[in-house]
Amino acid sequence: MELIKLSQLIDNTHIFDIFEITQNTGFKNFSNVEIKDINSCKNYLYWLIKNSDYYGIKLNGKIIGIVGYHSVNYIAYILNDKYQKQGYLSKVFPIFLDYGFQICNEILASIIKENEKSIHFIQKFGFELFKETPERYIYKKSR
Ligand SMILES: CC(C)(COP(=O)(O)OP(=O)(O)OC[C@H]1O[C@@H](n2cnc3c(N)ncnc32)[C@H](O)[C@@H]1OP(=O)(O)O)[C@@H](O)C(=O)NCCC(=O)NCCS
Repeated sequence: MELIKLSQLIDNTHIFDIFEITQNTGFKNFSNVEIKDINSCKNYLYWLIKNSDYYGIKLNGKIIGIVGYHSVNYIAYILNDKYQKQGYLSKVFPIFLDYGFQICNEILASIIKENEKSIHFIQKFGFELFKETPERYIYKKSR
């Protein structure tokens, strides 16, 4: 498995892998944007690249997920439905946390309250509830 900067994934066949991820039901927990076709997927990726630090997770030639930081120290992650519950994200996540802690002392995750899978996932990595809004929990991990 390897992490590849999103900017390297737009202009080749990997855009189709990323489009597939955006069609998963869980994508709305990752982003509020609705992606209808490859072109809107590309435009969305250009926006992500400009505004955040995101990477594709590559397994056997296919992009199976996305992980990255936005708003400086907020971590976000998504796996293609077909590759969930197999430990793939758990494998790359510690490396990605180490990378974040080189830049900042605290990493945050903003999670919709109903997103039990993501809450389970982030707690597994030692994140603790830090604050909440009416719709979201904010989890935090310190260096
Ligand atoms: C949140 C999300 C990324 C979690 O994905 P996931 O597949 O559960 O995460 P992993 O790949 O690390 O899988 C871990 C699970 O795989 C299972 N597993 C199977 N084989 C395994 C192996 N060899 N090694 C480790 N885990 C394995 C375990 O049951 C483990 O679950 P556990 O933590 O209860 O023990 C995923 O549900 C998702 O993409 N959701 C939609 C987007 C989203 O909500 N993003 C977060 C926004 S805040």
